[in-house]
Amino acid sequence: MKPKLYLKENGQFKVDNVDKISYLYFPLTNYYSLKSSISPNLNGDAKIDQNSFALVPTSSEDIQNSFYNRNIYFRINDEYTWSITGNTPYQMLNKDEVSLEADFLVHKIIRSNDHFSCEIESLVPFNDSYQELHKVVFKNKTDQPLIIKPVISFPLYSRSADNLRDHRHVTSLLNRARIYKNGILNSPTFSFDERGHNLNKRNYGLFISEDYQIKNYWPILEEFIGEGNNILDPIVVKEDLNNEYKINESIEGFEITSGMELEKVKLIKNQAFTIVLSMIIDDDIEKIKNYTKSLSIKTFNTLKQDTLRAWEKELEPLSFKFKDSTLNGWLKWVTLQPILRRIYGCSFMPHHDYGRGGRGWRDLWQDLLALILMNPESVRKQLLNNYKGVRIDGSNATIIGEKPGEFLADRNNIARVWMDHGSWPLLTTMLYIDKSGDYEILLEEQNYFYDKFTHYTKKKNNEHVKKDNLLRDKNNQIYKGTILEHILVQNLLPIYNLGIHSNIRIEDADWNDAFDMAHNSGESVAFTSLYASNLIEIAKILRKLYENGIENISILKEIYEILIANDYKTISNKHINRDLFLNSVEAGCSGLKVSKNVQEIANLLEDKGKTLLMHIRHNEWLEGKEYSWFNGYYDDNSQPLDDVSKENMTLTGQVFAIFSGAATDDQIEKIIRSADKYLYNKDVGGYILNTNFKELKLNMGRAFGFAYGHKENGAMFSHMAVMYANSLYKRGFAHAGYKVLNSIYEHCINIDKSKIYPGIPEYINPKGRGMYHYLTGSASWYILTEVTEVFGIKGDFGSVVIEPKLLKRQFDDSGLAKIITLINGKLTNISFINKNNLDFGEYKIARVYDDELEVDYIETKFGVKLLSDIKSDNLNIILEKK
Ligand code: G1P
Repeated sequence: MKPKLYLKENGQFKVDNVDKISYLYFPLTNYYSLKSSISPNLNGDAKIDQNSFALVPTSSEDIQNSFYNRNIYFRINDEYTWSITGNTPYQMLNKDEVSLEADFLVHKIIRSNDHFSCEIESLVPFNDSYQELHKVVFKNKTDQPLIIKPVISFPLYSRSADNLRDHRHVTSLLNRARIYKNGILNSPTFSFDERGHNLNKRNYGLFISEDYQIKNYWPILEEFIGEGNNILDPIVVKEDLNNEYKINESIEGFEITSGMELEKVKLIKNQAFTIVLSMIIDDDIEKIKNYTKSLSIKTFNTLKQDTLRAWEKELEPLSFKFKDSTLNGWLKWVTLQPILRRIYGCSFMPHHDYGRGGRGWRDLWQDLLALILMNPESVRKQLLNNYKGVRIDGSNATIIGEKPGEFLADRNNIARVWMDHGSWPLLTTMLYIDKSGDYEILLEEQNYFYDKFTHYTKKKNNEHVKKDNLLRDKNNQIYKGTILEHILVQNLLPIYNLGIHSNIRIEDADWNDAFDMAHNSGESVAFTSLYASNLIEIAKILRKLYENGIENISILKEIYEILIANDYKTISNKHINRDLFLNSVEAGCSGLKVSKNVQEIANLLEDKGKTLLMHIRHNEWLEGKEYSWFNGYYDDNSQPLDDVSKENMTLTGQVFAIFSGAATDDQIEKIIRSADKYLYNKDVGGYILNTNFKELKLNMGRAFGFAYGHKENGAMFSHMAVMYANSLYKRGFAHAGYKVLNSIYEHCINIDKSKIYPGIPEYINPKGRGMYHYLTGSASWYILTEVTEVFGIKGDFGSVVIEPKLLKRQFDDSGLAKIITLINGKLTNISFINKNNLDFGEYKIARVYDDELEVDYIETKFGVKLLSDIKSDNLNIILEKK
């Protein structure tokens, strides 16, 4: 029996024969933020942070092969042991039918056989508690009565993930379990983790509703399992044993489980046994008692409804109505993903078994893209806070604290420069300004991060570092500069840091974290393009500021000096300028600001940006006989990575050339042809990251140590593939862009191949499996591309711009395609009406109605800019033949 996915337009889905796919997992979480993952066999873990895991930390391999699952066993008619995990010797021979039903964010597994069915519905309630709730309904399907003995056992790991290998046994000696009426709570004495030995405050427990009597409590895991047995077939379930453990009794040491054996229950035909469980973590035992004493079927059902409603509300600010209703449902899960990454960071899902919960700099900014679309009011503060992480040399702090705006000095002394970091904040900030019109944010002042690393982290200098890690001026006063100044320094400094081919040095890596071994001579042509177009964008912003009455801006004298240094055309002179600047801010900055005309600065930036783009257009273009594309990188031996004659091609090299405008339309057409030839693979969801270089390339990075076709070495890496789509759309190549997005969607939705639940994974492996599901920056870029490129709902300093690039096939049979999104803070239904069934390229916007009222506009390259604010919450856009 093959697995089969049924996905509804509202996102609810069902998978029949879900147990036929391995490594599946689903997120259960809330904003408070308990972070759980759950698989069809009820594996997965639950934690608050790295040091507070209630269940044993679970990596992807453990999903299938570890048996520390959340477990409820049933002894059936005293004949055999059956479990909701499917992992008993009996079930290995007598398979149940297993299906999954999922909603936002509720997970339900239904197991059934000829005799009975058992459902387990799981959720993390959307409230201020760290609780997993589960409702179990076991039903007799036969005419014969069934006698069942239910036994619950969630092994309570109750400690830091570090202790999985580091003192697993010694940390079990810290355990202090206590038996409560209908519950077992473990409150370890200490927490052993990277911070040392601390008194532990956390309590980890499992409680069950009081509908049924507990016959025996079994808090010690090894007693529960029985000598010589294992967790698949524990003795306590198999045999009717008794013990002496009483309510209020404490148990010291040993691995703890929440073993609770219920009195036997007789179920007549169609009768069901229902029980509700709460697995809970909290520092406050009273809070735990309060939550668990009200545990009942009724409270479960109420909390489930609240949770469904709450997540529905979270996702409300964005929905799509394409002709393909399955796509609309799939996009709901993609829309949820950036929210999940804000909660989980880049850790804490089974594939994401690294890191300690934080997110990197790049991710911080890209997750905000989605937030700008979904919840723009909260963004201003976050943007301002994030700029606090920028150093005065344009690099940034790499350790991001837990509190907003908290950036920490590197503990390990291994500072690195990811040369792309400085390029992302502008993109995010521009989206925010275009959508909101809040250009004043650029003139707000913010601190700079200052730690011992100077000169792009190449030098260390502890002398002037203060505890607050803030930059000071020569008078020891904390220095603040405008957000615009932060953006300037981030984008300006890199263009003085060039390699011998006149592209920006790759330093310790760029977007591709695994291109990390070319620090001496490597160059990223790809990100040189992005920095160059960023300079041109900043010039545009400055001219807009001028239109809005701002004639002068004030910037730090040192930054102005490097900007006007007119000897930037040779590389060695650029390095002289770079070093002069870095020396001048090494011990803090002067604090002196100069007020300069915005037009003057705009001209200087535009000139620098254009020069670089022209350089890439002409010097990095690899013209072949049949196929041609851009070189994206130089390795540590200063050799180009892309090579037409060797048929070596990188996707990243193409994406940013297109995105930035370095590529001409003619070049883009050639790139599309070449990418279709060398990078397109339908079996893995479309465009892969690179061709097979067939060498270890120690002069480029660890990526080439990965097996080919995996992760950063030639997988369909969603983030870059989606950015390829975005770039193509941006430049008006909508059919090619559609192909990229659609290939990913069609692959993912084919559960037989992708082996993941709806949503976009970080990458697709060579066997077609979706890997590192849920926590990926590609989700933000996917929905951003749908909103701002496919539907073309953009902004221009607060004015509404509409530039649809919808294809004919995306409209329904009546010629309608629709998006519901926020415009100036108001949820707006935007309908595109294409009565004549025209394709992109054939139609233009003929009229725009604000409800019934026709709106004035001016034409733009791909659509229109509205001349007034939208009054109603309905916008109708009529498309007619060009
Ligand atoms: C991950 C990282 C991202 C990095 C990328 C490539 O991608 O989070 O910062 O640029 O790998 O190395 P993601 O999982 O977000 O798609």
